[in-house]
Amino acid sequence: MNGKFYVTTPIYYVNDRPHIGHAYTTILADVLARFHRSLGHDTFFLTGTDEHGQKVQNAAEKRGVPPLRHCDETVVRFQELWKRLGITNDRFIRTTQAEHKRVVSEIMQELYDRGEIYKADYTGWYCVGCERFFTEKDLADGKCPDCGRDVSAITESNYFFRMSKYQQWLIDYIKSHPDFILPAFRANETLGFLKKPLGDLCISRPKSRLNWGIELPFDRDYVCYVWFDALINYISGVGYRTDAETFARRWPASCHLIGKDILTTHSVYWPTMLKAMGLPMPQTIFAHGWWLTGNTKMSKSLGNVINPMDMIDRAGVDAFRYFLLAEMSPGNDANFSEDAFIARYNSDLANDLGNLLSRVSKLTIRATGGTIPAPAEITDDDRELIAAVNDAIRTMEESLQSYKLDQGLDAVMNAVRAGNRYLEKCAPWTLAKQGDTARLHTVLYHAADALCRVAVLLAPVMPEKMAELLSVLGVAPETVSGIAALKTFPGVTGCTMREAIPLFPRIMEEEEKPAVKEARPAKSAPETVPAVPPVTIEEFGRIQLKTAKVLAAEKVEGADKLLKLRIEVGSETRQLIAGVAQSYSPEEIVGKTIVIVANLRPAKIRGVESQGMLLAAKAGKVLKLVTIDGDMPSGVVIG
Ligand code: MSP
Repeated sequence: MNGKFYVTTPIYYVNDRPHIGHAYTTILADVLARFHRSLGHDTFFLTGTDEHGQKVQNAAEKRGVPPLRHCDETVVRFQELWKRLGITNDRFIRTTQAEHKRVVSEIMQELYDRGEIYKADYTGWYCVGCERFFTEKDLADGKCPDCGRDVSAITESNYFFRMSKYQQWLIDYIKSHPDFILPAFRANETLGFLKKPLGDLCISRPKSRLNWGIELPFDRDYVCYVWFDALINYISGVGYRTDAETFARRWPASCHLIGKDILTTHSVYWPTMLKAMGLPMPQTIFAHGWWLTGNTKMSKSLGNVINPMDMIDRAGVDAFRYFLLAEMSPGNDANFSEDAFIARYNSDLANDLGNLLSRVSKLTIRATGGTIPAPAEITDDDRELIAAVNDAIRTMEESLQSYKLDQGLDAVMNAVRAGNRYLEKCAPWTLAKQGDTARLHTVLYHAADALCRVAVLLAPVMPEKMAELLSVLGVAPETVSGIAALKTFPGVTGCTMREAIPLFPRIMEEEEKPAVKEARPAKSAPETVPAVPPVTIEEFGRIQLKTAKVLAAEKVEGADKLLKLRIEVGSETRQLIAGVAQSYSPEEIVGKTIVIVANLRPAKIRGVESQGMLLAAKAGKVLKLVTIDGDMPSGVVIG
């Protein structure tokens, strides 16, 4: 990796609404960038938007606004989503920026002066949607081979880049550089494409047809083809022709991450363009598969797009980042479904990881008051856990090279499950009862140490949650600031653990829940027998009860039992619908400090959203709120 890492995402069409497909590539790039930064590599992460071309011109015309204004107004969708997703790009490039336009223009002039670009008549089939020309034999049943839409025949004078002359060079380059196009089957796909004679690339559009683009410096009647303009972002974004020092430091890119649908533009157009410019090739072009919904590609035109925001609201940013990376094996397609999301969240994060943390923290606090003890003699059980963690570290390192992060994450989750098995097998609760302090301390140490290492491995994927996990363990983040630091990390002995709050509250799968949990007297059951089966302390721990202060209340129209409450829960304000109107007037309830189930999935009650549930006791017609005995701020965890 030469101590430097430069990763790019495709620049997204500014017109589109970002969906899970876009989010995936950007999160993958972000995770790679975070890993490489933590390894001390000189890292640069570039993303941005593709803002010229027919589609933008059409959309702006439709809205009756100038194209640049249209871009300015739509680019924020991407910028805001990246902020929400915790994306740490070093630069956000827009192809309408003056510096980029100047670089594109200079490149065109130089290639024209050197005879790499020439003018000729051209007849072809043009797909407006894809903004691409096709030859007769490229068409699929007379339609666009990429999107299947109608194409129109166009003859016009245009400028061409002599791409064909680099065909043999490109074939040889791909064959002699096995890491150039990954996964390997995508390299074969490109070589298959290169078996047919490669034409020259039409790089201009007459202004009579399209004027939203970068003007050709040698012919003002034309603008540059949007792909020729867009690909150049990878070098203009790191100082090509504007800042020689930066460019020498960053280029060549370590990895262009792309989706499989834009393989040819990246594996054929871009390398030949670079070759003509006399620039070195990127180290790797990695093409991932598509996210599908119901086995079809997610796309705006098909109307099956999943909005990342919905999933983030439901489970949080970190869980969303984790799911996308764990679920897709990047060479292949993956299917997105809400059920798969909830199932993986509940099993990997809520159950396996969340439980391990809460068990280790409770057991340690009970045994030592929180200080993580020093281990005594090591046993085979301890060695087995250490081996699972070391395997996770090794696999994660390998997956950084192969870009198959799902494999790294899988190994980390194996280590987490090994941690839970270790606790079951070593039974520290029994060791405590037996007074075997030396073995109890050893088990608690190894379990906490495994958790710490897991947190470091997962931190680039789930930065906020893993910072929280380390803080529960009492480990100062700077002592384990990345995967490399694990090699010299002395261990967790002496750190002070605190009680874990549920890091990943379980997501309930039922849609609607009653607004009030009523503690009814068990009618016929004798007092000593519970009316519902007993739960374990871990099961109870998944339900987060908090104090909340009622700020405002009003009746819900048409529902005489319901009150709509505005409540304060620590720093946040929520809306809650409660079936208490027959026992409390709005005035009576305002100001009370109540108890709510804070991690209950929001539900709609009579069409109004309720973000939680309050607790009350009901005997016959008498209903009393569960309140707090004395002063207590809102947002305090009850347990
Ligand atoms: N603007 C060009 C890229 C120019 S790069 C010099 C473009 N933009 S795009 O917005 O249409 O697509 C950007 C990326 O999103 C592509 O890599 C594409 O593969 C990816 N995806 C779009 N839909 C997708 C899925 N459903 N799943 C995964 N990725 C997909 O092409």
